Amino acid sequence: MTDLAEPAPQAAVKQHAAQDEDFSTLPDVDAGVFTAPLKRPPHIGEDWLEPQQTQYTSEDDAIWDDLFARQMGVLPGRACSAMLAGLEKLDLGKGGVPDFGRLSEELGGMTGWSVVPVPMLIPDHVFFWHLANRRFPAGNFIRTRETFDYIQEPDVFHDVFGHVPLLTDPTFADYMQEYGRAGWKAMRYNRLKALGSLYWYTVEFGLMLEAGEPRIYGAGILSGPTEAIFALEGESPNRIMLNVDRVMRTDYVIDDLQPTYFVIESFEDLYRQTVERDFDRLYKNLGASFTYANSAVIDVDNVLHRGSQEYFLRGGRGSSAKPV
Ligand SMILES: [Fe+2]
Repeated sequence: MTDLAEPAPQAAVKQHAAQDEDFSTLPDVDAGVFTAPLKRPPHIGEDWLEPQQTQYTSEDDAIWDDLFARQMGVLPGRACSAMLAGLEKLDLGKGGVPDFGRLSEELGGMTGWSVVPVPMLIPDHVFFWHLANRRFPAGNFIRTRETFDYIQEPDVFHDVFGHVPLLTDPTFADYMQEYGRAGWKAMRYNRLKALGSLYWYTVEFGLMLEAGEPRIYGAGILSGPTEAIFALEGESPNRIMLNVDRVMRTDYVIDDLQPTYFVIESFEDLYRQTVERDFDRLYKNLGASFTYANSAVIDVDNVLHRGSQEYFLRGGRGSSAKPV
C-alpha cells in the first residue's frame, strides 16, 4: 500500500500553514537524528560562517574565468532561461571570483537573498537555518588546476555559478527558503535522507521543461561540462517527470553521473508540489531506507526517456565507459 499518488488533503495544507516553527534561531538536533560528522574549524562559530570571504589570488581568478568560459561553451540552449538570465543580471562573467558582498546587495534587491561564505560542507541543521533565512552558504575556496574537471566537495564555482543565478528567480528563491524550513520537520521525524533526496533531484540535478524540451536548472549539472550533455542528450539515464513523494523514496549517487534525472513542469509546479505536500503523513509512512534504486523506473512514472543505463552497466566513473 502506498500513498504515492494521493493528492495532499486541504486540511493538511492548512495545518502546514498554521504551524509556527521559529526559523530565526538554529534548530535543535535530537540525539537520535543522524547528521554527518563534520569537524568545525576552530575559527568558525556555530553559524559556520567565515568572518570574511577569501582574498583570491590572480590564479584563483583565472581558474574562475576558465571554468566560466568552459561552461558558457556548453550551456546556451541547454541551461534553463532563468539560469542564463540570472548570470546576466548578476554579471557573473565580469572576471574573477565574484564578491559575495556585491552579489548579496544585488540579490537583496531582487529576491531578498544573500550569499555568505562557509569553509566547507556544513551540517544539515545549519544549512537549513541559513536557507530558511534566505542566506545561501557558498564554499569559500576554489578548486585547483589539478581538480579542474572534477571535485566532489562544492567549491565557490559550483556554489556561485551553479546555484546563485537561480536565486534571482522569485519562485525558485521561495522554493529554496521552503526547503530550508522543511528541514525542521525532517529532523523531528529523523527523515533527513528523504529530504536530502528532494534537494539532490531538484536543486542539484533537476531538469525543467521549456517549450516541451528538458533544460537544466540543477547546479550539479550546470557547473560541469560532461553532465550538461549527458543529462539532456545521453541514452543511458532515465528522464522522468518529478513526483515529490516518489523522489523522496529514491536513492542517489554522489560520486558519478546520475542514472535518473527528474523533470519539472516549472518552478511554480515544484513549489506547489512541495508546500502542499503533507510531510507529516509522508514521513510517518516512510521507512528509514530508500524504496527505489536510483536507476529504477516504476509503474506510476511519467517517463520522458527510458535510459539504456549503458554507461553504468559498463562501470561508470573510474572505468573506461563513455558517458553516453
Ligand atoms: Fe550544490
